[in-house]
Amino acid sequence: MTDTDNQDKRTLREVASEACKCIDVGVAVLPKLLLNEDVYASTVRSEFNAIVVEHHMKWAPLCQDLPGPIEKGTESTRVGRYDFHHCDQIVDFGLRHGMKVKGHVLVWHVTTPSWVQNMTAKELSEQIRRHIFTTMGHFRGRIKYWDVVNEALAPDGSLAKNIFLEKLGPGYIEQCFRWAHEADPNAFLIYNDNKVEGCGLGDHSRKADAFYELLKNLKAKNAPVHGAGIQAHFNAAGVGLQRPPTPIAVKRQIRRLGDLGLRVNISEMDVRISKLPMDENMRTNAQCDIYRDIVSAALSEPAFDGIWLWGFTDAHTWIKHFYYDGDQPLLFDKEFKKKKSYYAFRDALGTLSIGGIVGGKQKLFQRNGELEPWGKVWMQPEPNFVSDKSSNILPSGDSNPDWLQR
Ligand code: G3I
Repeated sequence: MTDTDNQDKRTLREVASEACKCIDVGVAVLPKLLLNEDVYASTVRSEFNAIVVEHHMKWAPLCQDLPGPIEKGTESTRVGRYDFHHCDQIVDFGLRHGMKVKGHVLVWHVTTPSWVQNMTAKELSEQIRRHIFTTMGHFRGRIKYWDVVNEALAPDGSLAKNIFLEKLGPGYIEQCFRWAHEADPNAFLIYNDNKVEGCGLGDHSRKADAFYELLKNLKAKNAPVHGAGIQAHFNAAGVGLQRPPTPIAVKRQIRRLGDLGLRVNISEMDVRISKLPMDENMRTNAQCDIYRDIVSAALSEPAFDGIWLWGFTDAHTWIKHFYYDGDQPLLFDKEFKKKKSYYAFRDALGTLSIGGIVGGKQKLFQRNGELEPWGKVWMQPEPNFVSDKSSNILPSGDSNPDWLQR
């Protein structure tokens, strides 16, 4: 980090506001922190212009796990078995501070209430429709942007064999978008997934290609899908499907999604670095490369609307609960101090400001259009695959969430 960075006190939100087009700079938050920790709330308010609820707006957390009447005297905005009070407080915080609020997520098999598991197809269909209408209806007029369906694809690009696919067939995805459009015709409806951020990476982009084909087919059926969320949960030490895409691969993916008439956002960005076999300085540089160069490249695409970080401080990251403790994937350290990655990310936002260099200062191409070996200093080699090819084939229909996938 240079002295200039230190002297330049502009926040992410301020740099984004100076860009030549509107950029969302969003963050996922948890209610107990936003509503109880002043430094957490003041950082969210000053640094970001958009907000999303990390967990509590999903189906299971919204509903009582067991269907049943409202407990007498419950102090919360309840609708039937729905308890919206956590989310109402976060949405009101965002709107009070002039922030865009994104609804996340209506349909994800991982956070579906346990009491739908034994339902018939008809009952399940009715419950999904009821959930979409109840939730979007509750926030109508306050939330316009919705992640409608999340992670319906398996790592190999096949449809994840989740309860929805097994009971309702592959048409459930289109149906959810049609119900969401019925619930709020003014809503902006998004399909969201991970390991789909870059294309043109050979085997590594089978899921990215499937993501594109899924959206292309939905658009061909005139399904009301308006946006694509590419999550960007990156592991700098990743190999195979977990390898971070290059900036060019991300540009290509955003470009072809834009050619379908979709808007694109990076929806859940964080960058794990602790498994890189190098010193802290090198790990930090790798993280800065990813935040700066991938975000700059994405911002240079006309169809790209902005970036949502999955948290902002290493003190509170889902990574430590779902992967391992001790990683530093975000822009602020555990003491809420700005890291080098903060300034790298801010540089990326600045590429669209006056004097910025669209696409970032990093050359994305070498001579004759050859890809610059981006990340050559820290990218890890592919492990020597065992001779038995079968162990290298990704399981088809794998519906495990990211943190449980091989
Ligand atoms: O709030 C309760 C707390 O009261 C309780 O003491 C604690 C221990 O049981 O659990 C807390 O709830 C946890 C919640 O996160 C808030 O921290 C839930 O158990 C836990 O399942 C939940 O995990 C979230 C997960 O989605 C499931 O909703 C993660 O925070 C969140 O980062 C993760 O986010 C997903 C996106 O929605 C979709 N894309 C992948 C991404 C990462 O998996």
